[in-house]
Amino acid sequence: MTRITYHHASYGHVLVGPQEYKNGCPQPPKDKSIPLAARRWWDDMGLAEAADASRAVLAYRNSKLIGFFRYSFFQDFKLPNILVGAGTWVSARHRGRGIGKRLWELAIKKQQAANIEVYAATREGLLLVRRMKKQYPKLQWDITASTSAYRGENT
Ligand SMILES: CC(C)(COP(=O)(O)OP(=O)(O)OC[C@H]1O[C@@H](n2cnc3c(N)ncnc32)[C@H](O)[C@@H]1OP(=O)(O)O)[C@@H](O)C(=O)NCCC(=O)NCCS
Repeated sequence: MTRITYHHASYGHVLVGPQEYKNGCPQPPKDKSIPLAARRWWDDMGLAEAADASRAVLAYRNSKLIGFFRYSFFQDFKLPNILVGAGTWVSARHRGRGIGKRLWELAIKKQQAANIEVYAATREGLLLVRRMKKQYPKLQWDITASTSAYRGENT
């Protein structure tokens, strides 16, 4: 079985953006190294308008990008180590195997995150972040979600 490898990325990576203190990659990346399905999802989710990021965790299999978690990380004078989610994507054929979870775990660990803010735009995204909250109950979680993410739930 081929191993999945994980890497951390910051400014300079195509999924993050070119430069610190500027918008972190609001446009869908045109780079061919980003799977077409991910670029389409980027458009569908409106990431181009909303989701700047300063870092990312990337999952590769056979040198191919199969997943990523984009996020921003900063300190506030009131809150320490704030991690703000800016888009998690795993290639459809690799979903349900713990890759999304692993991407989040690696970001939380690397940044020693204490506060997490995330907007879940899909049902799977909401399930994933709820799962992470369960795994890290000592962190402060601020989870919001779109109406469609809640669809089918009695909440
Ligand atoms: C959301 C997404 C990144 C999850 O990635 P994944 O690798 O499949 O997630 P994992 O296998 O690590 O699952 C992590 C947890 O999320 C929950 N979960 C994720 N997808 C789920 C699904 N379809 N049904 C039920 N639970 C789900 C489970 O609780 C799971 O934990 P468990 O296996 O311990 O029960 C993936 O479905 C995806 O890329 N979807 C399309 C893009 C998207 O919607 N992104 C989120 C935008 S907010």
